[in-house]
Amino acid sequence: MKEFFEQIKDKIEEIKNSPGTIFGLIFPYFLVIGFLIGLYFISKLEFLTRAKVPPVLKDTTAVVTDIPIREAKIVPPVNLSEIKNATPQLLSEGEQLYKSNCASCHGETGAGGGPASAGLNPAPRNFTSLDGWKNGAKLSQIYTTLQEGIPGSSMISYDYLLPEQKFALAHYIRKNFIQNPPQDSQSDLEALDATYNLSAGQQLAAQIPVALAINIVMNEYETDLARVENALKKIVNSNYNGFFSNVTSDKRVALMFLVRNFNSINNEQTFKKIVINNVNQNGFNGRVFNLSDQQWSELYKFLSSVI
Ligand code: HEC
Repeated sequence: MKEFFEQIKDKIEEIKNSPGTIFGLIFPYFLVIGFLIGLYFISKLEFLTRAKVPPVLKDTTAVVTDIPIREAKIVPPVNLSEIKNATPQLLSEGEQLYKSNCASCHGETGAGGGPASAGLNPAPRNFTSLDGWKNGAKLSQIYTTLQEGIPGSSMISYDYLLPEQKFALAHYIRKNFIQNPPQDSQSDLEALDATYNLSAGQQLAAQIPVALAINIVMNEYETDLARVENALKKIVNSNYNGFFSNVTSDKRVALMFLVRNFNSINNEQTFKKIVINNVNQNGFNGRVFNLSDQQWSELYKFLSSVI
């Protein structure tokens, strides 16, 4: 014990004599403190950097409306010299269309910031300012925007609208939101006409909403699947099971293929042709090439009786 105090005393003497040693003694403590501060900073680094950059949020609120049901139809030719004028009738048609299709993003007042615009990048165009338009605010340019959409943005193509409806929208926007909108020259309108066959009219294919199409496909699939399972049950319980297994690589795939092509298979000849032509994808296998006419005939009769 005594020795220990002696040692400390000596140490204190030593420090008194050379002040440099004191630095040597406390230096490690500074090192540790510095290190801890560093660690703390690093642990908060992600937060610090994130806090400086505005968050980019993927928009999940935008209500994307499905395309409407439309029967195949001939698009009536439009008379450009009439439709280029903002008649009260076109304006009220435009207002209705705008409110139900566009206001969610571009806002009721056309200044952008509609309820579905949050987080969209680029943001929906503020129609009340003419800055930065990609296509432009002329009648023909808005028409082009509606026809083609703006690639790389949430401004999709509204090509399913009739030409008259697109003009109605363009008139409504120009009349209500844009001060002194730029005018189209005669050649602007002629170019638009030539690009989209406006005065000649065109033919449009029928269309149904995507959701409905998926529904129909799924229903068809379920009906087909039920037929496949039903046929499979009959096959497994028949004494034809071994033979069918032998010529197929996947029984379900083979039956699905037959169910789906059932309408076009109406005789033994087409049956044979259709099976052989698709042998790599249709669930059958290469052994079908060795079947005799007699066996083809039996296979056809048997399968048409169970499907
Ligand atoms: C889902 C949101 C959304 C909806 C709905 C929407 N737009 Fe847009 N729209 C945008 C965005 C985003 C832009 C900006 C695109 C850009 O600058 O790249 C834009 C741009 C535009 C422009 C300016 C094009 C240009 O030249 O810069 C017009 C005109 C326009 N939209 C009209 C319409 C009309 C008319 C409707 C309704 C039929 C509509 N929009 C519906 C999001 C939308």
